[in-house]
Amino acid sequence: MGRAEWKAARRVIKSGWLTTGPEALAFEKAFAGFLHDSDPPGKEKIKTLSLNSATAGLHLALEAVGIGSGDLVAVPSMTFTATAEIVRYLGGNPVFIDSDESTGNMNPDALEKAVITADIAGKKIKAVIPVHLAGYPCDINAIRNALGNTDAAIVEDAAHAFPSRTGEGMAGTLGDIGVFSFYATKTITSGEGGMVATRNKKYFERMELMRLHGIDRVVWNRYAADSDVKSWEYDVTAPGFKYNMPDLSAAIGNVQLKKADYLLEQRQKLAERYSSALGGISNLELPRNTRGHAWHLYIIHTTGSEVRNHLAGKLDREGIGSSVHFIPLHRMTYWKTEYNLEASDFPVADNLFQRSLSLPLWPGLRWKEQKRIIGAIRETLGEKIHG
Ligand SMILES: Cc1ncc(COP(=O)(O)O)c(C=O)c1O
Repeated sequence: MGRAEWKAARRVIKSGWLTTGPEALAFEKAFAGFLHDSDPPGKEKIKTLSLNSATAGLHLALEAVGIGSGDLVAVPSMTFTATAEIVRYLGGNPVFIDSDESTGNMNPDALEKAVITADIAGKKIKAVIPVHLAGYPCDINAIRNALGNTDAAIVEDAAHAFPSRTGEGMAGTLGDIGVFSFYATKTITSGEGGMVATRNKKYFERMELMRLHGIDRVVWNRYAADSDVKSWEYDVTAPGFKYNMPDLSAAIGNVQLKKADYLLEQRQKLAERYSSALGGISNLELPRNTRGHAWHLYIIHTTGSEVRNHLAGKLDREGIGSSVHFIPLHRMTYWKTEYNLEASDFPVADNLFQRSLSLPLWPGLRWKEQKRIIGAIRETLGEKIHG
C-alpha cells in the first residue's frame, strides 16, 4: 500500500458515497480493459463484475452455469476450501481430482478418468474448476480436451493468478468464467474483494442480477440523480445474494491495478533470486514451470515431511514466516468424512503437500531480507552459506 491507495480511500470517504458506485464501475472497466489487452486479436470483449470476494465470484459463477442439487463439479483436492465449498452452497457435490506432479495443478488425465467414471455411473460432471495454483496457469486446452464431448462449464479459479499471461490470453479469461481475488495477501488487493470475468452474455447477466439481491437494476442507477426512473422503483426477480464491492475497496483496487505489472516485476525478480540462490541445493525442488507465472506464491518441495517440518520450524525460530499451500481437501475433516476421501486416492497431491513450503514473497521484500531467508534455508539443509 502506498500513498496513492491512501489518497484514493480518502477521496471516497470525502465523497460521501461508500458503497458500490462510480469507483466500482471504474474498477470493473479498467480490469476488463487490462484483461482484454492480452487477448489475441479478434477475441470478443470480456466483461467483469466487481465483488466482495472471490468466494462470492465462484458461487455466482456456478449458479450462473446452472449448478443445482446433486450436480457434480470437478475440483482439485490441492486447493483452498473455498473452491469446493461453493459447490455445497448450491447443493452440488464436488468430485476431487489429483494433481499434476510438475505443476501442482489439476491433472487433466485424472479429470478425464473422473469424467469417464461419472459417465459409467450414468452421471455427468457439469462443471470443472481448475485452480491456477500459486499463480501458475493451468493448461485450459488440456482441461477442455479431458472433458471430451460433455458440455461441462469451465470456471477458472484465478484467485492466485493475476496477472498471468499465457499465449492465448490471461488466466481467468480462457474458460467460460474466471474468478479473481483481491484478498489482502493476493498479487493486487482491495483488502477484501473479487472480480468475475466472462465473454458469455447470459452468464454475465445472471451474475449481475444475483450479485445484488436479484434486484433488476443496479443500486447506483436507483439513486442516480439524472435517472429518469423513479428512485424507489425496482423489482426482485430472483433470490439473489449480497456480493457487491464497496467503493472504498474498489478505489484501492483500482490504484493497485495500475501497479499490477510493476508488482508482478517485483515478484518475478524475487522468484528469480530464490531460484538462482537455491538452485544448487541437492534434494530441493524449485518451481520448474515459470511461463506466465503470477508468483502469488513461491513453493519449494523438500524430500519429505520431516525435512519440511524441520525447515519450517527453523525458519520460524529465526523470525521468518513460511506456510504450506495447501493441506489438500482430502485431509480436511468435513470433505474427508462427507465424501469418504483417502490420501491414497490422491497420491500426487498428498505427496506434494507433505514436502511443500511457501517462502516469504511480497513486492516489498528487500534483497537483504531475502538473503537472510536464503541463508537460513541453506544452513538448515546442510549447505554452506555463500555470499
Ligand atoms: C485458490 C483459492 N480460491 C479462492 C479463494 C477465495 O478468495 P477470497 O478470499 O477472495 O474469497 C482463495 C483464497 O485464498 C484461494 O486461495
